[in-house]
Amino acid sequence: MLAYQRLLGHRSTQRSFTYVAVATFLCLLFYYYYQPLPLPYSLQYSFIQHDISRVPYQLDAHIKFWEQLHTSILNCSLTGDSPIKIGEFVTAAFENLGTNAADIRPDVLRMKDIDLTEATSQHQRFVAQVRDSNYGMVFKPKSRGIATTAGGNLLPIMVMSLRMVRQTGCTLPFEVFMADETEYEKELCEQVLPSLNARCIVLSHIFDSLAPGLPDPGLKHYQFKIFAILLSSFEDVLFLDADSFPVQDPEKIFLTAPFTSHGLITFPDFWASSISPLYYQIASRDPTPLTAHQSTESGQIFVSKRTHRNTLMLAAYYNFYGPQLYYPLFSQGAHGEGDKETFLAAAETMNETYYQTSEWVKPLGRIRTDGSGFKGSAMVQSSPSEDYTLTSRGIWRIRDMKGADLLAPPPAPLFVHANYPKFNPATLFGSAPTGYVFNPTLDETGHDTRAWMEPRPLLDAFEFDVEKVFWEEIEWVSCRMAGYFKAWKDEDGICENVRKFRMKVFPGTEEAKLEK
Ligand SMILES: *[C@@H]1O[C@H](CO)[C@@H](O)[C@H](O)[C@H]1NC(C)=O
Ligand SMILES: *[C@@H]1O[C@H](CO)[C@@H](O)[C@H](O)[C@H]1NC(C)=O
Repeated sequence: MLAYQRLLGHRSTQRSFTYVAVATFLCLLFYYYYQPLPLPYSLQYSFIQHDISRVPYQLDAHIKFWEQLHTSILNCSLTGDSPIKIGEFVTAAFENLGTNAADIRPDVLRMKDIDLTEATSQHQRFVAQVRDSNYGMVFKPKSRGIATTAGGNLLPIMVMSLRMVRQTGCTLPFEVFMADETEYEKELCEQVLPSLNARCIVLSHIFDSLAPGLPDPGLKHYQFKIFAILLSSFEDVLFLDADSFPVQDPEKIFLTAPFTSHGLITFPDFWASSISPLYYQIASRDPTPLTAHQSTESGQIFVSKRTHRNTLMLAAYYNFYGPQLYYPLFSQGAHGEGDKETFLAAAETMNETYYQTSEWVKPLGRIRTDGSGFKGSAMVQSSPSEDYTLTSRGIWRIRDMKGADLLAPPPAPLFVHANYPKFNPATLFGSAPTGYVFNPTLDETGHDTRAWMEPRPLLDAFEFDVEKVFWEEIEWVSCRMAGYFKAWKDEDGICENVRKFRMKVFPGTEEAKLEK
């Protein structure tokens, strides 16, 4: 019996040894060959707080940050005159650079020497203060979310875009920045938006809290974009204009290069940059070559507040003194003068990385029935991840637009920026909305029409019928929510108009789908 046990013991020791050897071998094999498999998105995201109602907005911390930044900004204030314009130039299309005389950087602004000297030294001091100070933006670590600005007439448009965000399966929390209490719409902010994982934040609650004696920043709406980013709750932020929406889940972009490698992604405008040489003098650096990237269409921006603190703080400085100095310097009167160039200019000056999607922005529209050409009413921006896959292999479709499809297929569409005119159902039907030259829902013979029918290959690249789904959401907002918007208080028949239009132009859409 004892012998048997010993034998057994011996045999089991031998067997254990074999097991250990095999296990060690397997471990080594595993160690050498194991490549972590990418987790499905849903699992990777589990550490992120998706439910906005469970993360209160850190108002006091944001106020404290703004007080510090505001002090630095005022400490480097500008007292000089704005630049004067001494001539005109024709904005060059980016793809024509190098093939015609427009290759030369426009230079039509002049400043007095004394103002230039002040701007230069204040810029230097601000950059030094940002670099040497250690306060920073407030955000919940490892969080991702979407920020936008809206108020008044833009609120219905913003809700349509938010519904389109949710259509892509994206559940990211969403923060809407409003100027002040007059823009805050209680029922909308407290009843409707929370059900869409969204909330309102009133900027004046932050701006007006400054210690007595500090002047009100007096910022205007078009300067708010940077403040929506700076004061949002998220570490990784997608800023969206109220009239821009994604056509595929934008959350994926945060997980791949170039976001993971560059931390700041912007999108191109049609034009070449027209930054004045004076700006580079003020920023004390070499001009960025005109061929480096297109000017920026800032309706959508991905940025990490963790990696791009300095860029965002300098961009805040540029926007604060934008109307007075930096907006004219960045555009010299070219199309869409405003915040658009402040982000990349700040990143370049702060030596922080960025990636501007190189695939050109594409107009979406229809061919006029009277033969007078193309009628665009939206802009399409492409996936920066797919764009980066090409450019990091040295493939730049933009450098040969005509032959581009022979080089590589285009990156998939990511955003539709429906900005001209905005698809506001209160003003869309009938005559052209005030200030616009046409109504995109009417053809040249006065009949209702789809607005987005060309170019065909671009529409084929969408994974769904974007315009049809957009109208379903316009109808949902018009028929379910009309009562919530102050801007629509005195409007009648918005729902009926939308429903009639949608039935005629998109027949076959079931009512039931709209009841969701
Ligand atoms: C600006 O900052 C400097 C150095 O921190 C300080 O000495 C100066 O008083 C400040 N100026 C203003 C106008 O706040
Ligand atoms: C950026 O890099 C340049 C060149 O190395 C340097 O001269 C400049 O001071 C840097 N700027 C900042 C803000 O650090």
